[in-house]
Amino acid sequence: MSVPCVAVERERGEAVRERLAEADALDGDHEIAVDCDAIYIPVVDPEAVPADLDANIVEREAAERDRPQTPAEILGYEPSLERLGDIVIVDEDDDERAREIADAVMASDVPCETVLNRASPIEGELRVRQWDVLAGDDTETVHREYGHEFRLDVAEVYFSPRLATERHRVIEQVDPEETAIDMFAGVGPYAVPMATRGADVVACDLNERAVAYLRENAARNGVADRVTPVAGDVRDLVGGTDGDDIDYADTADRLVMNLPHSADEFLDTAVALAGDDCAVHYYDIQHEDDSFGPGTRAIREAAGDEYEVAVETERVVRSYAPHEYNVCLDVRLTRV
Ligand SMILES: C[S@@+](CC[C@H](N)C(=O)[O-])C[C@H]1O[C@@H](n2cnc3c(N)ncnc32)[C@H](O)[C@@H]1O
Repeated sequence: MSVPCVAVERERGEAVRERLAEADALDGDHEIAVDCDAIYIPVVDPEAVPADLDANIVEREAAERDRPQTPAEILGYEPSLERLGDIVIVDEDDDERAREIADAVMASDVPCETVLNRASPIEGELRVRQWDVLAGDDTETVHREYGHEFRLDVAEVYFSPRLATERHRVIEQVDPEETAIDMFAGVGPYAVPMATRGADVVACDLNERAVAYLRENAARNGVADRVTPVAGDVRDLVGGTDGDDIDYADTADRLVMNLPHSADEFLDTAVALAGDDCAVHYYDIQHEDDSFGPGTRAIREAAGDEYEVAVETERVVRSYAPHEYNVCLDVRLTRV
């Protein structure tokens, strides 16, 4: 197809191309061509070419550029993909299909350095997953969520981008000056934005690598002065186990308990950390028949006679497995 091109000596080619790009005159749908000592740069409209270039504009055949495509256009079907910074996560049981999807992602217009497939469930106390690395090799990335940046290595720490909306819901409830304790903080996706809202945040995690990232993420987002990272078992925030002086008992205006499956084991600690009036965000995974009952009963039992317990919100966060939900209870503890 014949299109208008700026013809220029090869030595000036890059400088002229840059000027044309600045003037939005470049035709990105057609290839630049080189012929002997001349270079032919397709332009959208001869009138858009800056006059001071004194350009020689010719009509010339130009090949159409291969436009980058989406993975779905390359594959002919919509793959299930999740983005985490410049990592793309594939969710595929069939290894061959996972590789096909990874190849398509890398060939597509998706900005991506690494493609991973889930190789295990989330496991162990530190809630970390194993991965098959299908393309690239770097499992560390910087992920952006609601205006905050989090550096993390998915092979070393827990992080789920799917919880972004839920985290934002909780963070929006935070008032300046309150004391919040994130009992299972990971790399800080609750703790850091809570500090941005003006809270003083104690953020604890058993995973030392997660706490190292949390410290970096607090600094990266300008709130290092309002986040106190603690590496270790959250139970040790109450009195410590070996006579050390960490003691956050009776201090919290807000507690975040994002350790579904076993948060109930930490309710005694939560009650000990709670101040006179404390909001608790309690995450749980339960059967659809009674998603909120077990958590509510466990919280009431732990609070005993010390606190009045008011359930303010019962929220289904997401479907977890067939007939099972990941839920959140927002509960207010008021000292009697
Ligand atoms: C489901 S992850 C949640 C992390 C973070 N809140 C988030 O939303 O990304 C639970 C975290 O609890 C930590 N953890 C498990 N047991 C703990 C304990 N006894 N004390 C403190 N942290 C613990 C794990 O290392 C893990 O990072």
